Amino acid sequence: MRGITLSSLCLLMHLLLDEITTILVLEKQVLQDLIKPRKVEFHSLNFNSTLHWQPGRARGARDTVYFVQYKVYGQSTWQNKDDCWGIQNHVCDLTNETSDIQEPYYGRVKATSTGIYSDWSVSCRFTPWQETMIGPPTVTVVHSNKSITLKLRAPRSPYRRKTGSKIPMTKYYDLLYKVFIINNLLDEQHRVLVYEGKDKVIKIEGLRPGVSYCIVAKTYVPMLDHSSAYSSKKCTVLQ
Ligand SMILES: *[C@@H]1O[C@H](CO)[C@@H](O)[C@H](O)[C@H]1NC(C)=O
Ligand SMILES: *[C@@H]1O[C@H](CO)[C@@H](O)[C@H](O)[C@H]1NC(C)=O
Ligand SMILES: *[C@@H]1O[C@H](CO)[C@@H](O)[C@H](O)[C@H]1NC(C)=O
Repeated sequence: MRGITLSSLCLLMHLLLDEITTILVLEKQVLQDLIKPRKVEFHSLNFNSTLHWQPGRARGARDTVYFVQYKVYGQSTWQNKDDCWGIQNHVCDLTNETSDIQEPYYGRVKATSTGIYSDWSVSCRFTPWQETMIGPPTVTVVHSNKSITLKLRAPRSPYRRKTGSKIPMTKYYDLLYKVFIINNLLDEQHRVLVYEGKDKVIKIEGLRPGVSYCIVAKTYVPMLDHSSAYSSKKCTVLQ
């Protein structure tokens, strides 16, 4: 015990006392603030729009449940999202509720734990058309023999036509595809842009037989200057 000096013991005592005092002072207001959800924000990919949040600062409040509401900007009443009323996870799918894609929306979340309710935490304004991330196209290699022929398919929105098929993102935006080729003999990271435009079927010529090539593609929205992530790689060896 000789290592512990009187002053460090004194400090320890103070820390313990502080803890105890803190616990005693935890009145309702403090608890409410401690469980209040944080970072309430929309995440949206191809109009699949979900509200995400983080639990409040209180640790170990495992029995916390959450309630979600939403509204269109300018409306005075909030709507309950029934599927996200008293849920334990930190995500709520508001795709159907935000389907008027030009409208600005808000979402908000409150928490309850051991009989105490937090205030609402409100998201920033979310306008699906401006803010959704567009996904990459799906790339299929149709055939490769001296040249490579590709088929590109636009990402689908979650919204359906009357016939039941999902509406492609090309219905909502003027989309361009960017197609890149990677020659596996060269640097893996070196992607060469070989096509930019709207065509769904693309032929890449002037390639060398016996060489393995990979293709990746992106979607680009010129009006918003938004680019998607790269599609997954499709590789082929030319005959
Ligand atoms: C969205 O609406 C469709 C059709 O009305 C329904 O089948 C689906 O369950 C809804 N999804 C969510 C997450 O609310
Ligand atoms: C590839 O091209 C050659 C010559 O044009 C042709 O004989 C061959 O059948 C083609 N192979 C495939 C798999 O299309
Ligand atoms: C949105 O995406 C999630 C995760 O991929 C999925 O579970 C959910 O069904 C999608 N929502 C709609 C309405 O399609």
